[in-house]
Amino acid sequence: MPTTLEVKTPRLVTALPGPMAQQVIAADAKFMSPSLTREYALVAKKGHGAIVEDVDGNSFLDFAAGIAVCSTGHCHPKVVEAIQKQAAELIHISGTDFYHHHLPQLAEKLVATLPGKDAKKVFFGNSGTEAVEGAIKLARYATKRDKLIAFYGCFHGRTLGSLSLTASKNTQRKGFGALLGGVEHIPFPYAYRCPHGHTAETCGTETLELLEQQMFKRLFAPEEIAAIIIEPIQGEGGFIPAPAFFLQELQRICNRHGIMLIVDEVQSGVGRTGKWWAYEHAGIEPDIVCIAKGIASGMPLSAFVAKESVMTWKKGSHGTTYGGNPVCAASAMATLDLIESGYMENARKMGDYIFARIGDWPKRFKVVGDVRGKGLMIGIEIVRDQKTKEKAADLRDAVISKAFHKGLLTLSSGENSIRMSPPLLIDEEQADFAIRTLEECLREVENTL
Ligand SMILES: Cc1ncc(COP(=O)(O)O)c(C=O)c1O
Repeated sequence: MPTTLEVKTPRLVTALPGPMAQQVIAADAKFMSPSLTREYALVAKKGHGAIVEDVDGNSFLDFAAGIAVCSTGHCHPKVVEAIQKQAAELIHISGTDFYHHHLPQLAEKLVATLPGKDAKKVFFGNSGTEAVEGAIKLARYATKRDKLIAFYGCFHGRTLGSLSLTASKNTQRKGFGALLGGVEHIPFPYAYRCPHGHTAETCGTETLELLEQQMFKRLFAPEEIAAIIIEPIQGEGGFIPAPAFFLQELQRICNRHGIMLIVDEVQSGVGRTGKWWAYEHAGIEPDIVCIAKGIASGMPLSAFVAKESVMTWKKGSHGTTYGGNPVCAASAMATLDLIESGYMENARKMGDYIFARIGDWPKRFKVVGDVRGKGLMIGIEIVRDQKTKEKAADLRDAVISKAFHKGLLTLSSGENSIRMSPPLLIDEEQADFAIRTLEECLREVENTL
């Protein structure tokens, strides 16, 4: 009989949470920071491919991938081999002080994935927020300006600089006092709730007008603005794609005024949308790109990549102890090879497959308001009423919890959306299981209304 990890779909052997899981959860409540938001009672022990096994031997199909991190699935043999080999050779040397062959190799490989003729340079860090912090500093340094513009609904991290940009949930900012000055937010083009009735292709026209006709004239002169930062598909905000024209226009405005366009690809990048970077769907070339999550299959690594003409800061102006750690870099090299040699194409193919199956959910389920995204970045917005579009966080939470109890791991996103962000290696059998399971859960939730 195959082990629970060898099967492709879940197998539950205890009620959830099982006895071992309950013990871990009790210990966790005693010692861990209460700020962590646990979605449900998954206590993971092992993982392989798109399957996670818990401490009681239950296996789950993982359509969350550690918040879109395990791009090549759990413990891909090539990634494990690269990590083990590197760990036996050299675990750490600080890239700030010394050289290591992985750093330029990985930087070159990463740069080759970004479109455009401009030469580019890379700074490696450890987390998404650190990439954003670095991007803010670089934009300020390069432009000698300090103002920053971000979008409502955006999530760029939780350290004080990136948190100044983040405008996702007020609990993430509340209680932490003054953040960076000189940061303003403008509406993100959210087509499903567009106040002007635009479509997913045209939403955002008024925001661009607001930026140029109001903000630039009344608040910040454009020559004071260091950067505009945007997620091409808002991640934590609800998996909301920005229209291509909107990104193109932002680029035009930035170019015209010497403002850095920073694109945060922390969640949407590394092949998840069927291209290396989600911004490629709009054909733009940002000045600075922030990268993390999927780049190293779960090892902590991030990067920001900038045009060479932008990354001209002086020795000592920015550094890090761990960033680009050899073991993380080895994992990233193996990850990028796997993404390139098939998983990115699989993400495109499986994304098309899933969207073709769930695109009509708003017609089939009265609690589904919208289905959106690209590739394997799939958002489903849950509403109480399709006409009023009343947000239904409670129904969304019920669907996610029911799915867990049927062996499917998903995550919430935004106020009332479900996100599916599986590893890029899933196949049709696994997609079918996820679709069938969510359909059952949606039906069950509708029956309670
Ligand atoms: C778009 C985006 N930027 C930045 C971050 C912050 O990344 P980290 O949690 O690794 O600091 C996240 C995390 O979810 C993200 O989705």
